[in-house]
Amino acid sequence: MRNFNFQSNLFSMSSFYKLFPNKLGCIVRGIDLSTENRPEVIQKIKEDVTTHRILIFKDQGIVSGNRHVEISEWFGELESTFYKHPKSPHPDVFRVSNDKSEGCTGVGRTGWHIDGSFQPAPFSYSLYHMVSVPKRGATAFAPLTELVESLPKETFSKWDRLWMMSDRRSGPIHPLIYKHPKSGKKVLCFHLGMTNNYIFDYGSPNEREATPSEFEEISEEIHNEFVKDNGKIQYIHQWEPGDFIISDNLAVAHEATPETQIPRSEVGLRVLHRTTIKGTVPPTK
Ligand SMILES: [Fe+2]
Repeated sequence: MRNFNFQSNLFSMSSFYKLFPNKLGCIVRGIDLSTENRPEVIQKIKEDVTTHRILIFKDQGIVSGNRHVEISEWFGELESTFYKHPKSPHPDVFRVSNDKSEGCTGVGRTGWHIDGSFQPAPFSYSLYHMVSVPKRGATAFAPLTELVESLPKETFSKWDRLWMMSDRRSGPIHPLIYKHPKSGKKVLCFHLGMTNNYIFDYGSPNEREATPSEFEEISEEIHNEFVKDNGKIQYIHQWEPGDFIISDNLAVAHEATPETQIPRSEVGLRVLHRTTIKGTVPPTK
């Protein structure tokens, strides 16, 4: 009997929508996020985000600000720390654009990062929807566990001693390498554009801040891991109309590509809506 239930659960769960493997995460088809509200489907989506780290829902049309927020609430409490652009459709939706009259410009271009490293617990999820797709302007993502696991031994040993000190808000200090609260896999807490300094052996008698040249060297080392071998570890998402992305913000790093800053007059209007979900577990060693 137990076997039978297990089988039937498996069947119904996999029939909610179709997952197609992607370079990073999965492409999702056969679901309409604008109307989907079944608890069992929401539960499956949450499990799939944890398993696959990024879900790219295709053909979602234009998702309203209210609906974007409702979908976000499946994942927890929204945390909105950004500048609220007048054109934002909802106070919890960060509106990013290549036209400052339409949204905030120059966003996500200060280096590879996860979102919310300036909080005591970085955001657990980020949800992205491109409501106006320009001809060019991709978002680059990269899996953190693979990056950490492929580090040369000496680099890993060095990074494993490091903590990052955010340059924003209360300047929280996070371990650079720590275990993801859900998967238990090694990930990074970092932001190459918003770090005051790195601290060696934080909390131990040997604790010390990196010197300015060590800071530069560490930042460069981290950057290099994302771009080496022609950026082999990266997944470059070329946005198409109707794309809605849910990412496990703690499991993947991201950066806006340089093309995201090309003006509207050249590539058309770019408008990206993003929400972020409050982290609940501060990173610990
Ligand atoms: Fe970001």
